Amino acid sequence: MWTDFRYQAQPMRVVFGAGRSSEIGDELDHLGLERVLVLATPEQRALAERVADSLGSRAAGVHAHARMHVPRETADAAADEARSQRADGCVAVGGGSTIGLGKAVALRHGLPIIAVPTTYAGSEMTPVWGMTENGVKTTGRDPAVLPRSVIYDPDLTRSLPPELAVTSAVNALAHAVEALYAPDASPIISLMAEEGARAIVAALPGLTGDDDAARAGALYGSWLCGAVLGATTMSLHHKLCHVLGGTFDLPHAAVHTVVLPHVVAVNAPAAAPMAAALSRVLGSDTPATALWELTGRLGAPTSLGELGFAETDVARVVEAVASAPYANPAEVPGEAIRSLLVRAQQGEPPDERAVAAPGTLSPARPAPSSRYER
Ligand SMILES: NC(=O)c1ccc[n+]([C@@H]2O[C@H](COP(=O)([O-])OP(=O)(O)OC[C@H]3O[C@@H](n4cnc5c(N)ncnc54)[C@H](O)[C@@H]3O)[C@@H](O)[C@H]2O)c1
Repeated sequence: MWTDFRYQAQPMRVVFGAGRSSEIGDELDHLGLERVLVLATPEQRALAERVADSLGSRAAGVHAHARMHVPRETADAAADEARSQRADGCVAVGGGSTIGLGKAVALRHGLPIIAVPTTYAGSEMTPVWGMTENGVKTTGRDPAVLPRSVIYDPDLTRSLPPELAVTSAVNALAHAVEALYAPDASPIISLMAEEGARAIVAALPGLTGDDDAARAGALYGSWLCGAVLGATTMSLHHKLCHVLGGTFDLPHAAVHTVVLPHVVAVNAPAAAPMAAALSRVLGSDTPATALWELTGRLGAPTSLGELGFAETDVARVVEAVASAPYANPAEVPGEAIRSLLVRAQQGEPPDERAVAAPGTLSPARPAPSSRYER
């Protein structure tokens, strides 16, 4: 029963529907923008060029140089391009990397972002920015980087390779899982998180085939999951993925997919509402195992080893995770993190039995004063 909480709504305009990316010009009108830089990854340049063509003289150009984890030099180049083209805003067409590049430009020049997501990562719903320099990823929160308008067009996710579609959806699910036990959760957040998780899990099987309803459902779920990511403090799961992705340059969504079942197993004994919500969504009393089996059946990676992460690097991750406090419903000692990572590295199923043993975990500890981001 919720009796005491805070909730901060984000000022966000959302347009949702198949084909709605043809209405980017209307969003420019709505925001009073006259000259926008269209951002994309090199792989999505053709899509960005189509968007720029549709905007005519209101497109200042296409900058298709987004890269995962926003390397510092990539952010510098995009900010310079926006300035030299005298852009008054950015249209970020792509996944979390492209939207992250838009955020880096917004952070420097304060330019508003129209986000047109093509994955399920959820970055478009958050005021969280990230940047990587010398192998270290730094993140922060700034209202200036929150996109002003978001256009969700499920048609744009048709081209996602099946494996990326599945792992990206699980990335969204991870936001919902950690929001369900966040120290700053609220009844609104829990409603959105469980509904987002339900939509994602329902969509997952259809994402490997030609299923428009599944794509729309996953995008709706990713909206909700991104919104709860933006509104709460993330915990052990996001901390682990942040270190694994930022330090070892591993693929973001795939890392989330491999790690999530293991973190659910470790945290479930200390996070009953999360475990209950996930059990309802997955139709299983052992949600960590059910999730691990589901993603495996859908062809997603199940081991960090196959993503290029070596067991000899486990100690480095344990050390990095332990080096700064983070919010988590359970106290997870270094040895438990080490064994979680070894299981994940080797592709073993999550250990729902052993981590629930008395003494392995202590009850929730209070949230640290500084937020863990991403
Ligand atoms: N700040 C936040 O709130 C937040 C939230 C989630 C993720 N992120 C960040 O986002 C990044 C990961 O984003 P991501 O997982 O969306 O991947 P991504 O944006 O890096 O995209 C991965 C690859 O898929 C391609 N791609 C994207 N959409 C496609 C489509 N519809 N069809 C075909 N190819 C497509 C891209 O061009 C790229 O090559 C990470 O750096 C992560 O930290 C940030």
